[in-house]
Amino acid sequence: MGRGEKSEMLKMSILMMIMMSSVLMTIVDSSRSVQRDVDSEEPEIVRRHLLANGLGVTPPMGWNSWNHFSCNINEKVIKETADALVTTGLSKLGYNYVNIGKCLLYLLSSCIYSSSYLIKCFKFLVCFSDDCWAELARDQKGNLVPKKSTFPSGIKALADYVHSKGLKLGIYSDAGMRHKVVTMLGSKCQGIDYLKYDNCNTDGSRPTIRYPVMTRALMKSGRPIFHSLCEWGDMHPALWGSPLGNSWRTTSDINDSWLSMIANADMNEIYAEHARPGGWNDPDMLEVGNGGMTKDEYIVHFSIWAISKAPLLLGCDIRNMTKETMEIVANKEVIAINQDSHGVQAKKARMEGDIQIWAGPLSGYRVALLLLNRGPTRLSITAFWDDIEIPPNSIVEARDLWEHKTLTQKFVGNLTATVDSHACKLYVLKPVA
Ligand SMILES: *[C@@H]1O[C@H](CO)[C@@H](O)[C@H](O)[C@H]1NC(C)=O
Ligand SMILES: *[C@@H]1O[C@H](CO)[C@@H](O)[C@H](O)[C@H]1NC(C)=O
Ligand SMILES: *[C@@H]1O[C@H](CO)[C@@H](O)[C@H](O)[C@H]1NC(C)=O
Repeated sequence: MGRGEKSEMLKMSILMMIMMSSVLMTIVDSSRSVQRDVDSEEPEIVRRHLLANGLGVTPPMGWNSWNHFSCNINEKVIKETADALVTTGLSKLGYNYVNIGKCLLYLLSSCIYSSSYLIKCFKFLVCFSDDCWAELARDQKGNLVPKKSTFPSGIKALADYVHSKGLKLGIYSDAGMRHKVVTMLGSKCQGIDYLKYDNCNTDGSRPTIRYPVMTRALMKSGRPIFHSLCEWGDMHPALWGSPLGNSWRTTSDINDSWLSMIANADMNEIYAEHARPGGWNDPDMLEVGNGGMTKDEYIVHFSIWAISKAPLLLGCDIRNMTKETMEIVANKEVIAINQDSHGVQAKKARMEGDIQIWAGPLSGYRVALLLLNRGPTRLSITAFWDDIEIPPNSIVEARDLWEHKTLTQKFVGNLTATVDSHACKLYVLKPVA
């Protein structure tokens, strides 16, 4: 490392400290135990259950600022969204997490070097109440220039506000630049209820080493905090996430398009067996209401997320939703599938060209059935009891969850429906004899 780089680092450290005293933050003493955790993690420790917070018994529901607002957020937007979740009635339906997307909390360590010797690493808990770190880092002069604070009242005050509405506050943390992530939630950050721990700028350590450190820190925080692992699915977190998190991303980032949505749905389905109460596969947040898909496509999006037991985190502007968007995300019957106590993720039961049949068991011997047309033209789709684990001679009653009606016809052996292009039918099937 050259001298210039070292002095840059020193400068960065100092700037960071100045910034931290001017904004809202807590400095956490560098703790030896944390350091030991980072360096000498035994692989087998990962297999034990580190996370026992009792959360995520059903998939989390709420809102996250990222899909609609990117980094253009401030405490006013967050408070207004909390208000809107209540006034629209969405909070009553279960949408109770108010999650601030990227751009908020960073857990960083900053090291001072002398010559090539490491003198000291400071470990900070930074409740970063400003814009994206990445943006700051890209400043042309290479300086860290904190923008005017967008969260002047601080996270604790925001948490208090959100709690006063009967809601919960979620924040976001990044693995953080080149620095080794140090993880300890200090008292100033208590009041949060949900942490999304992302994968940006890792220090190169394996996620199975990195994530347990955060899990332990959360367990030590003295507060049940939902731990959302966001590893983008690179290292198949479904295979190792359940002792560490309440949900884990199985996919790369979603965008507001049919292609992206359906790709994430496909990728997430592969790991269906790994979802269960306490730990869910996460195909990323909802785009419903952001304008990039048709109404039918958004219905497909919401339906697949619901039957996949995915977190239902709205990603639109709750303060300004259309009636159409509200109809989709406030469909109680579809939400009920997502929140069903049985907690089993639906899977693809049959695929033929553009036709897909997804099904999954629900409580009370019921079955959720999705008939999906991914093609460009209207198609007739038949689901057979054989494929969806209903005993062959069962007589079945079908409830259409988007039409909100129970079909008068009873079904034996199969059910057929006509489905428009990029659309779906979603049923709950109940054997009646
Ligand atoms: C959205 O995602 C799809 C599928 O991954 C990709 O092809 C497309 O380029 C993305 N669009 C944008 C605007 O990022
Ligand atoms: C509200 O949403 C509509 C589209 O549904 C958009 O045209 C309008 O600009 C939005 N208003 C605000 C204040 O964001
Ligand atoms: C569907 O089941 C009915 C009996 O309920 C049967 O008459 C019909 O042939 C079946 N359809 C197909 C395509 O197998």
